[in-house]
Amino acid sequence: MVQVPATELFGGLQRFCIFEGMKRKLIWGSVVLVLITMLAIQRVEVTPNNSGVDSLDISRAFPTSHRVKTLLQTACYDCHSNKTTYPWYAEYQPVGLWLEDHVSEGKKHLNFNEFSGYRPWKQYHKMEETVEMVEEEEMPMASYTWMHEGARLEAADRESLVLWAKGVMDSLTHLYPKDSLVNPRKKK
Ligand code: HEC
Repeated sequence: MVQVPATELFGGLQRFCIFEGMKRKLIWGSVVLVLITMLAIQRVEVTPNNSGVDSLDISRAFPTSHRVKTLLQTACYDCHSNKTTYPWYAEYQPVGLWLEDHVSEGKKHLNFNEFSGYRPWKQYHKMEETVEMVEEEEMPMASYTWMHEGARLEAADRESLVLWAKGVMDSLTHLYPKDSLVNPRKKK
């Protein structure tokens, strides 16, 4: 057995305890700080996306089956329309802020409720993007389907959406001259 002088042992223990004590204080301090921050940001008010204005909705302007309408409603409209159905946890920060970021970003890129107000080239382009996003399973976003099981698309659902979007593109080519379906910035 190794003999350790009592003073040395005591000194070592004390040093260890001082260090542990500080560490504990630091950990508790951080926990309290995080809790205070969490409580403070609960007061942040997020303006909900719920105007529901849909007079320019894509389904009013282009043939859209009931099935496709339902698919869009359940898988896309929470982020790409003027009306989001919020989950209960949206009232709590920082989750609510994070969700709102998705909604405002999604709407900025594509708002199905305002679709027929877009220039023809933009309508055409957004449908091209829709085909791509749905085919490549990039939309609806994985972080969304994770919590919204009902929004997960089966292969047949994706096919219906892609066919529908291609149909809208087809209608556009009949409605407008070819030239107006090209982004003016991309024209030579
Ligand atoms: C959870 C929110 C959310 C859902 C649900 C969602 N999107 Fe998106 N979508 C976004 C965000 C955010 C962007 C922009 C950033 C990006 O491209 O990742 C986007 C971008 C897009 C774009 C690209 C637009 C452009 O021109 O850049 C298309 C097309 C699209 N989404 C279609 C869909 C379709 C179709 C569905 C349903 C099948 C859907 N999205 C569901 C949030 C969402």
